[in-house]
Amino acid sequence: MRYISHGEGGSAEVLRLVEGEQPRPGAGEILIEVGYAGVNRPDLLQRAGLYPPPADASPLLGLEVAGRVAAVGDEVTEWQVGDRVAALTPGGGYASHCLAPAAHALPVAEEMSLATAAALPETWFTVWANLIDLGQLKAGERLLVHGGASGIGLAAIQLARHVGAEVFVTVGSTEKQTFCEAFGAHHVINYREEDFLARIREITAGEGVDVVLDMVGGDYLQKDLGALRRDGRLVLIAFLEGSKTHFDFMPVMMKRLHITGSTMRSRTRGEKAAIRDALARTVWPALGAGLLKTHVCARFPLAQAAEAHRLMESGRHIGKIVLEVGGE
Ligand SMILES: NC(=O)c1ccc[n+]([C@@H]2O[C@H](COP(=O)([O-])OP(=O)(O)OC[C@H]3O[C@@H](n4cnc5c(N)ncnc54)[C@H](OP(=O)(O)O)[C@@H]3O)[C@@H](O)[C@H]2O)c1
Repeated sequence: MRYISHGEGGSAEVLRLVEGEQPRPGAGEILIEVGYAGVNRPDLLQRAGLYPPPADASPLLGLEVAGRVAAVGDEVTEWQVGDRVAALTPGGGYASHCLAPAAHALPVAEEMSLATAAALPETWFTVWANLIDLGQLKAGERLLVHGGASGIGLAAIQLARHVGAEVFVTVGSTEKQTFCEAFGAHHVINYREEDFLARIREITAGEGVDVVLDMVGGDYLQKDLGALRRDGRLVLIAFLEGSKTHFDFMPVMMKRLHITGSTMRSRTRGEKAAIRDALARTVWPALGAGLLKTHVCARFPLAQAAEAHRLMESGRHIGKIVLEVGGE
């Protein structure tokens, strides 16, 4: 098979298209002939050696793909060779063929392109697990999402609206602001122009929000606690500005706050299968009906994976970037 190697790791230049042996599906696994693979920020961290894969995962890059089932392992009953699927992978998506547990795959209807489908699993699994399972976001509550125009952010805006929440986001440019509004954010705060904490207090008449989904960390953490109202939940999914900071925990006690977080990759197969089942019941039908969507801002041939990483590193992208492997 063809795949992208990141060698010993480093900057984007290390990414090379190479050939290797095609994996075989074990019990409960499917082999996917990849049409498109999604690019996610954790891939950049893994390439740089800052996010080592779990011991039982593929060491190759690529956490999500869409394509056709090429082979099924023992005990797989729900998929057949030729089925169009999108899957959360345990790594290995930047390749012409990729293994995934059968229970981490979802069907792709003929009306949806594989390029769109490849942009769905990692963000929607992550957003579901962190907003609904951990964050316990409910109708009538308020959510603040940082990085509103990221792949994760655009999904979070829509899922929050879907459950009936009011959505606040932060972004770093006017273009990203316009996008978040188009995706349904009620309040978009450009953090380069105004202080998000002051603005949220102003909009909510001092009450604050119920859930914060934070990928920035650093100085934001203290302000996140300030933005939460009583019984609020802070959910941490990344630390783009660092995970270490000087911290006053007083608001946690005074407002009975909960601080939690998670990474998708380290979850067990069973936990990911449960998230898949929840997405199949809720998000997948809404995506199929056009009530929810994704935004793919750029496609690169697999051989140009380094260009895709450079674009994501630049921060100019909005929504998702995908790699074209076998195409539609
Ligand atoms: N925990 C998990 O399971 C999990 C799973 C998937 C992804 N993630 C994390 O979730 C985040 C979003 O993922 P993604 O794939 O959607 O990435 P992405 O599209 O690259 O989004 C990153 C966003 O963060 C904002 N940002 C704020 N401060 C930043 C900084 N110092 N450096 C870079 N960006 C900054 C950027 O928007 P502005 O220009 O508006 O600032 C950008 O939209 C990433 O940090 C990723 O590692 C976590």
